[in-house]
Amino acid sequence: MPESAADTDNPQPRKVKYRKTKARWHPSMQAIPVPGIRRMVNMAATMKDVIHLSIGQPDLPTPQHIVDAYIDALNAGQTGYTMDAGLPELLVALRDYYGRRYNRKLTRDNILITSGATEAMYLALSATAAPGRQFIITDPSFLLYAPLIRMNGGEVKFIPTHPENHHQLDPDDVLKAIGERTFAIILNSPNNPTGAVYPRSTIETIVEECAYRGIQVYSDEVYDHLIFDDDEYASVLSCALDLDNVMCISSFSKTYSMAGLRVGWVIASQAAIKSLRRFHMFTTSVANTPAQFAGVAALTGDQQCVTDMVSIYRERRDRIMTLINQTPHLTGYKPGGAFFSFPNLPPHVDGSDLALRMLQETGVCVVPGDAFGEDTANALRFSFSTSLENLDEAFDRIIPWMAKQSL
Ligand SMILES: Cc1ncc(COP(=O)(O)O)c(C=O)c1O
Repeated sequence: MPESAADTDNPQPRKVKYRKTKARWHPSMQAIPVPGIRRMVNMAATMKDVIHLSIGQPDLPTPQHIVDAYIDALNAGQTGYTMDAGLPELLVALRDYYGRRYNRKLTRDNILITSGATEAMYLALSATAAPGRQFIITDPSFLLYAPLIRMNGGEVKFIPTHPENHHQLDPDDVLKAIGERTFAIILNSPNNPTGAVYPRSTIETIVEECAYRGIQVYSDEVYDHLIFDDDEYASVLSCALDLDNVMCISSFSKTYSMAGLRVGWVIASQAAIKSLRRFHMFTTSVANTPAQFAGVAALTGDQQCVTDMVSIYRERRDRIMTLINQTPHLTGYKPGGAFFSFPNLPPHVDGSDLALRMLQETGVCVVPGDAFGEDTANALRFSFSTSLENLDEAFDRIIPWMAKQSL
């Protein structure tokens, strides 16, 4: 049928029209969950006077010498691509830094610089997850891992960690969970969302057993400096005899308040790095160049800025523990690291529902436990990456509100 009189009077050759169809995404996209906190964040965006205890990034300013190094790099014209493995100066700085810290001989070929730990984890998991391969992760865990494994056809096996045990990972549970199909285990200490820091004995037992059985260990160590009570941090790099089956993944994001600068890395065997480097060229190609110069300044500069930031987080951790202990219906424990507290509501309470009501009625935004797994729907994640004043004000609102809830 002609669409207008003009079409009838002056017929034009018919243009081919394609039927508009919905975009057809790869089925693997179904493995990406709808973020559990979307409703909350959308609602918070429409509200005034919201106190966010939901933030997963440092609120403290990036140390000035790091910012200066970024600006200096820009001014010096460092705006091109770097080598695919990363800026040579940063590879050397990381090699020396980790070599010293864990008394481990590394070469530049053991390291790949990525766009944050997120890209590092993306590369590691997408390059290895496949049908028939099972990956063990804790429940709860950081929300990146399970979707990346499943997108690539891999199978996820959860090991629950429990609040009574301060969400420590029991190495015996891991050993029992390992089976015929187990390909890898992902460790994350200090842990997001639980704040648990695993002792050396846990990491050693797991790494040793995995080496014996040929199972890969991917260790997400982005919070490796944000530890409050332990003297020594147990990295896989200090527990593994060799790097044949371990990958250490980390970044500048948390330690140096550089989350938006997007620089992370993988440390692994030279053979693994060779493969990942190829894959990296086909994904982001290289990390942000001036940010890599900023990273060199972070690693080679005075580390007092890290000590100072850790003291601030420790003070906040202590304050939030006191405040949580004063809050009716919440049962907390002392998180040893990162900047999260993950207390429990009574077992039958839906944390998601409660968090939404709490936001509506008090203006305090936290993340419900079901954003991180299936077993902790009655938990809430409180981030203490915010000032002591904000923590006090948030609990001035939460405590009387909780007292009125009959749970
Ligand atoms: C456990 C964990 N791993 C990785 C990341 C991502 O870090 P990056 O900013 O380096 O990509 C985060 C960020 O919140 C995290 O909490």
